Amino acid sequence: MSYAGFSAFVCLFFVCCFCCSKAMPTTVNQEAVNDRPVIGILTQLVSDEVMKPFGRTYIPSSYVKYLESGGSRVMPIRLTLTTAEYESIFKKINGLILIGGVADLEKSDFAKVAKIFYRLAMTANDAGDFFPIWGTCMGMQLLTVLVAGENLLERTTAENIAMPLNLTTESRSSRMLKDFPEELMKALTHEPLTGNFHHYGVAVKTFQENEKLHNFFSVLSTNVAENGVHFVSTIEGKQYPFYGVQWHPEVNRFQWDRTRNFPHSRHAVQLSSLLAEFFVNEGRKSLHQFENPEEEASSLIYKYTPVYAGNFTAYQQIYFF
Ligand SMILES: *[C@@H]1O[C@H](CO)[C@@H](O)[C@H](O)[C@H]1NC(C)=O
Ligand SMILES: *[C@@H]1O[C@H](CO)[C@@H](O)[C@H](O)[C@H]1NC(C)=O
Repeated sequence: MSYAGFSAFVCLFFVCCFCCSKAMPTTVNQEAVNDRPVIGILTQLVSDEVMKPFGRTYIPSSYVKYLESGGSRVMPIRLTLTTAEYESIFKKINGLILIGGVADLEKSDFAKVAKIFYRLAMTANDAGDFFPIWGTCMGMQLLTVLVAGENLLERTTAENIAMPLNLTTESRSSRMLKDFPEELMKALTHEPLTGNFHHYGVAVKTFQENEKLHNFFSVLSTNVAENGVHFVSTIEGKQYPFYGVQWHPEVNRFQWDRTRNFPHSRHAVQLSSLLAEFFVNEGRKSLHQFENPEEEASSLIYKYTPVYAGNFTAYQQIYFF
């Protein structure tokens, strides 16, 4: 298409929109929907020697791209702020993701900051102020520690292996999976669509025996670890919009290291896309917002530049802070 042709098309498009919007009634009865969501990501402390020269904390860009692909923007949240500052951030963001990594689930700054947001989110949701939280891998493990009030993890090694999910009957009526196309649900139970990179997890038995955990979360899927232990692999809050996956949906589209079992099939990509859209849609139900556009712009991740890390980590790019 010629440039002139393209600009004519663009003009037509705008003219058309203008007409339509003029024709609309001035007071539209809208549901409370926030179409400019911002999801927070807690940074992780760098522990890997090869990453130390670049910064003290980091966020792999795969998580950022994952959320952006669902229609959200991302705010990186440092681990060095005051409680008052976290309370202020909470009122501005529309959801939180706790990412994978390595950290003490009770004593680390990561765990302490997560606990502040967890408590704020519980109180907000109780008061009808919707606020979703998603935990991936260690993030999910941390959610179980926060809910149970104790660390119930045990060895459930599934390191560098992609697996199908053993879906529970509850998964069919879950918010997270119920709208998936039938073909994908079938693929999810037969094809290795979920990348596992962990040594610890919560055993199914432990989960069922712990009143706090099984009252709080529905178990949507389980898997079997290398040592034979059945572990919980996907969870969803019964009353709260809190979600956890012991596996890594973001790698399916955004990590490509050939030595890792990152699933890249058509169904694996579809799974990753639908879950990103699902969580961002949860974020749309939150009406928290920044004080003004300037404050918002200066808080988002766009002003940072990720570092190419494909030649020394399993990530393609990493944001360092
Ligand atoms: C699903 O559960 C069955 C029966 O408990 C087990 O044999 C199988 O290995 C599990 N599959 C996965 C992918 O964990
Ligand atoms: C990785 O690639 C970058 C950019 O090409 C280069 O500057 C850096 O030295 C490489 N690092 C390693 C560990 O090979």
